[in-house]
Amino acid sequence: MTTEPLDLLVLGSGVAGLSAAVRAAEIHGMRVGVLTKGELHQATTRWAQGGVAAVLHDDPDSTDLHLADTLAAGAGLCDADAVRVLVDEGPGRVHELIALGAMFDRDEHGRLALAREGGHSVPRVVHAGGAATGAEIERALVDAVHRTAAVLHENTFALELLVDDGRCVGIEALAPDGGRYQLRANNVLLATGGAGQLFAVTTNPLEATGDGIAMALRAGVAVADIEFVQFHPTALHHPSMPRPLLSEALRGHGALLRDANGERFVDELLPRDEVTRAETTRMLEQGVDHLWLDATGLENFELRFPTIAADLRAAGLDPARDWLPIAPAAHYLCGGVITDLDGASSLGGLWAAGEVACSGVHGANRLASNSLLEGMVFAFRVVEAIEQGKVEAEATGAMRAVLDGDGSPGVIRGRPVDEPSFDVDGGDATEVFEPAGLTRLRDRLQRRMTELAGVIRTGSSLQAAMKEATAAAGAVSRRAGSPAAAELRNLARLAHAMSFAALVREESRGAHTRQDFPERDDQRFRSRLVLRPPVSQAGAA
Ligand code: FAD
Ligand code: SIN
Repeated sequence: MTTEPLDLLVLGSGVAGLSAAVRAAEIHGMRVGVLTKGELHQATTRWAQGGVAAVLHDDPDSTDLHLADTLAAGAGLCDADAVRVLVDEGPGRVHELIALGAMFDRDEHGRLALAREGGHSVPRVVHAGGAATGAEIERALVDAVHRTAAVLHENTFALELLVDDGRCVGIEALAPDGGRYQLRANNVLLATGGAGQLFAVTTNPLEATGDGIAMALRAGVAVADIEFVQFHPTALHHPSMPRPLLSEALRGHGALLRDANGERFVDELLPRDEVTRAETTRMLEQGVDHLWLDATGLENFELRFPTIAADLRAAGLDPARDWLPIAPAAHYLCGGVITDLDGASSLGGLWAAGEVACSGVHGANRLASNSLLEGMVFAFRVVEAIEQGKVEAEATGAMRAVLDGDGSPGVIRGRPVDEPSFDVDGGDATEVFEPAGLTRLRDRLQRRMTELAGVIRTGSSLQAAMKEATAAAGAVSRRAGSPAAAELRNLARLAHAMSFAALVREESRGAHTRQDFPERDDQRFRSRLVLRPPVSQAGAA
């Protein structure tokens, strides 16, 4: 099927994708398509709990303080200009979302209620339904996009980027009936989210399989910071997948972490990487597979956190009485497709926003509740840049790691790393046609990634993870005709790149901890590792 190119094709229907689509279609009258592999509302966004960090009341907060907290959490790798954009433009985007219909919680005076989370020096997190913020944002954006003329392609899988003459000109897609077709667009926005499904224990829904980053890698688009996988410290220790999350807002409200002996062992409001590391160390020392979150001292739990209370009830737990079993779970990918301050990638015509992107705002460790904000802020900037006729990336934000190699003082330099070739194809592998075989392979890759590339890594574990990724990719054919096969191929692609980047980074920083290199090494590694693999055949038009 070939049609006249769209002005903007948005891949993904989370906060980033839908924010861009609504603005492009409604405000600028662009011809917009939104393509998403599930139904419109299916996205990690709707699972978000704690809220959106933004300076909505000035006193005692300020954007300078939000900037300082974000930089401190990022462990030396944030791009300060990108963070400045995030904190300055964030409040405006939140107000626009409210104007679109999103309902945030308010205090008794009708002012937006603000919560505190780890790494924030003051309460600044707006929330909805207690800890059901993502569901409300997704609801408001889905309603809003339905009011525009954007063309919606649900249950449609983006397989590959089409590249012609050095520009992205559209995608190859898998239709709901299994047929492949090409969709042409002058601009393609990757808003495909993160990759928690790379791991066996994750808070992320099934669709978070890193497809956008895998497609970008296959097309030779620059990617960075993917070794920084954030593990959330308080996922409920429970067999259900994804793991129910016990929001940081609980600790912001006074819930305490306790070890196997009931002792406190860490300041609960440190940035997330530090809490997770302390927790993992304590679990290893005590030979246990979980610790405890003690929320028994919280008043009005049911009223303030009704959705979490419901999850706990379903698990047979009463937060007023029981300590809650918790363990770290893969939660967020700090890196991704490198962009400039307008979301432009290293490939003309291709833009990225939200969790799929590396805009430079998170560095080595994202500050709590800065992700929804990033999606809103940078999606907006993408649309404005397209409207103003921008055609290629500039040396701003994280893109300075690619276009401004020498860097000026304060700029995080790029360090190109050549990933070993990963042009693996399972040819006529039989698993391709067997759903049970694909599930088995995906489960194995997830388990091995958790063991080998999880919270604590070593050089040898990461080499083993790369071999696992190669084996998984070798079992699935490039011609595979199902979303499940395409997801496995993408997971394997990303597992290889992530493990390789983690292997190269011989230090511990932010969310990346190497047992064999326990110290931070600014001399060698205060830089972004830029993966710029050779373009594979699959990415060519
Ligand atoms: P997503 O919301 O992940 O959307 C990606 C979209 O792309 C989906 O619609 C998906 O189906 C689609 N897609 C993917 N691949 C393809 C493909 N190949 N073809 C077609 N479509 C595709 N962040 C905060 O800031 N505050 C919070 O309180 C918070 N709480 C969280 C709680 C949980 C349990 C989790 C898991 C995350 C939380 N986060 C939070 C993180 C935040 O929710 C995500 O980072 C953010 O929602 C990502 O938004 P996005 O638009 O980039 O991507
Ligand atoms: C949470 O509510 O703990 C998640 C917040 C986040 O991921 O930013």
